[in-house]
Amino acid sequence: MITVEHPLKNKKQFFDTVADNWSSEHSEQNTEILQYTISETLKAAPGKTILDIGCGTGITFPYLNDYEVIALDLSSKMIEQAKANRISSVNLLLQADTHRIPLKTETIDGIIALAVYPHVIDKAIFLDECHRVLRPGGSFGIIHLHPSHEINRIHRETGGVLEDDFLPEPQEVVRQLEATQFEPIRVEHDNFYFILSKRV
Ligand SMILES: C[S@@+](CC[C@H](N)C(=O)[O-])C[C@H]1O[C@@H](n2cnc3c(N)ncnc32)[C@H](O)[C@@H]1O
Repeated sequence: MITVEHPLKNKKQFFDTVADNWSSEHSEQNTEILQYTISETLKAAPGKTILDIGCGTGITFPYLNDYEVIALDLSSKMIEQAKANRISSVNLLLQADTHRIPLKTETIDGIIALAVYPHVIDKAIFLDECHRVLRPGGSFGIIHLHPSHEINRIHRETGGVLEDDFLPEPQEVVRQLEATQFEPIRVEHDNFYFILSKRV
């Protein structure tokens, strides 16, 4: 019998299995870059309601103190860990798929997508959803703590469900953003990867 696995289900299973050790293995990394890219995204937001997409265990939370934060992740195990790391500014933690964000239209001022973009199966639907929930002028930060070639090497070497999770060069993501009515306002791609855009 041939069984067809749903790619989203496989991805959830993968991130469930790595959730327990995620914080200990990733929280020490590049805090200056995290601080810089998150604060630039927040500064560009027109208000204080921030959505952390693919929040994992909540590595961004310490940088979001002065905001009203909603965080979502596909993996229920990641959400469990995020609950343990929750700070008072995190109002809502949702186990949800970013292809169908369970939030009302035009209710969010800024979105942070840290280390998530390559894992999203349908980028066009994802960007449409981000556009829908953001208020006009809302900010959107696509952030990676390493350049794209490094991220892609890690995913290839990890293999399995991550093997084809590809982070395009910034020019390609800028093209995808523009096609979804985002206006890119900053692109940095040196020892990290940062694309800041505004929802038109
Ligand atoms: C590489 S981890 C990054 C986690 C966190 N942002 C960090 O930097 O520590 C990618 C996260 O994206 C989540 N994810 C992948 N696909 C998703 C989807 N379709 N909807 C919501 N979250 C998703 C995974 O469950 C995982 O927690």
